[in-house]
Amino acid sequence: MELDIWLGDQLVARTRERDRGRKVSIVYEESVVATMGDEIPLLSCSLPTPGPSEPAKARSFLEGLLPEGKALETMAARMRGVRLEAGAPAAPADAVSLLAEYGRECAGAVAIVPSGGSDRPGEGSYRPLDQADLAAILHDLPTHPLGADPDREVRMSLAGAQPKFLLARFDGKWFEPLDGAASTHILKPTARWPHSAENESLIMHLARSVGLTDWSTWVEDIDGTSVLVVERYDRRTDGKRVVRHHQEDLCQALGIRPVDKYQIGRPSERMARLLRRSADSPSEAIRELFRQVAFRTVVGDEDGHGKNYSLLLDRGSVRLSPIYDSLCTLVYPELSGRMAGPIGPQSTLAKVDRKALLVEGVAMGLLHADAEVALQGLAAELKIAIENLDATLTSRWPSGPVIETVLGRVNRLESGQPMGGSASRSPRHTPQQAADMTTQTTLSTGRVAPTGQTPPSRLERRSS
Ligand SMILES: Nc1ncnc2c1ncn2[C@@H]1O[C@H](COP(=O)(O)OP(=O)(O)OP(=O)(O)O)[C@@H](O)[C@H]1O
Ligand SMILES: [Mg+2]
Repeated sequence: MELDIWLGDQLVARTRERDRGRKVSIVYEESVVATMGDEIPLLSCSLPTPGPSEPAKARSFLEGLLPEGKALETMAARMRGVRLEAGAPAAPADAVSLLAEYGRECAGAVAIVPSGGSDRPGEGSYRPLDQADLAAILHDLPTHPLGADPDREVRMSLAGAQPKFLLARFDGKWFEPLDGAASTHILKPTARWPHSAENESLIMHLARSVGLTDWSTWVEDIDGTSVLVVERYDRRTDGKRVVRHHQEDLCQALGIRPVDKYQIGRPSERMARLLRRSADSPSEAIRELFRQVAFRTVVGDEDGHGKNYSLLLDRGSVRLSPIYDSLCTLVYPELSGRMAGPIGPQSTLAKVDRKALLVEGVAMGLLHADAEVALQGLAAELKIAIENLDATLTSRWPSGPVIETVLGRVNRLESGQPMGGSASRSPRHTPQQAADMTTQTTLSTGRVAPTGQTPPSRLERRSS
């Protein structure tokens, strides 16, 4: 099978299979290459024009569009002949089959359809949803990851290991995107880690306060479950028309498969090197990367792996995306205690201090003095943001340990001490205890009160 890969409303490339699906490459359309020229990172920094791509890079790019973990297993299980190996598509042809089925709505501006169809993918349509519909999508997630349902032409794919679903929001109302219509929001229910929705909402609010994103994140109650709502920075709405903006994650940009997302190394190594080579304004992009890395470090987020950093691509222009998927993982002691990638010489967040961050900044290419200024600025801005936290973000859930952890770490960043672990670090759990806790979490999420006002939407603001 072969795929047509659309970018916005243009067919830009097709896949080509060899060795009975063991090798797949991505071949740009001749007309595209003729107008764009060579060395343009159109789909990905790892897939510059004119191509054809190296098969290993095409495989990483295609797999990078798919979910991971249970969601991928469920999607693969309902398709005949699709095999997974170690939680990933067993061969490139398996990723191709999955994207033929689910790839109409992906990260960035990519829309994928099986080759040979006569039409361009249409704009699709939207089904209005009431509270009962939302509850049904939430409860059906174990069998319909992302809310996708090919039988009803809901074909969507998005990376990540946590349960989530994709909806569109217009004038404050929720809609289900059908027939390849674009989503505008990602919804992540609290599932495994207690109060993860509130935790991520609080941390992303801090990220917005210090200028690392302009997009909104908030918590909604859907049928008694706290659900994190994330506004997509790769979408803009204009009335009910949604425009997709292209993005890729760092694993895709570097040709690394999702299963290797924790093998990305120090941020200064591959991430900063890529920005130096490809970004429109390398110095600015690297300074922003350093601020994202430092923010994750200070708020106690161990999960800065290669799929939690992304690039915005626009026909040759390459910029770092806003920060996303950040929460204080240090308050979940049963997590590993190891960071996704080392910072300077340190591989545990508790041991990172200002010196280690400065080593990382200088290795990225910043002047020592500029890295110092960036850290001082970040610490000062974070303190102000914590002081001004709105009660809607902190009440109705045990937010104290998260706030104390972040504040303690900001203070120790300033004083130069190792930043330490969680304020309320309890003894590690055995795997069985952790599993029990997961069950309790599901039960204890219970019914939650609505968590305050929806913040102003950047997507909707822009459209007005
Ligand atoms: N605000 C956003 N706008 C656009 N795309 C986003 C946004 N947030 C996340 N994404 C995309 O969606 C993917 C999945 O989101 P996210 O990282 O939050 O999921 P996750 O399941 O929690 O991930 P992980 O496996 O790292 O725990 C990201 O890798 C990124 O490509
Ligand atoms: Mg993620």
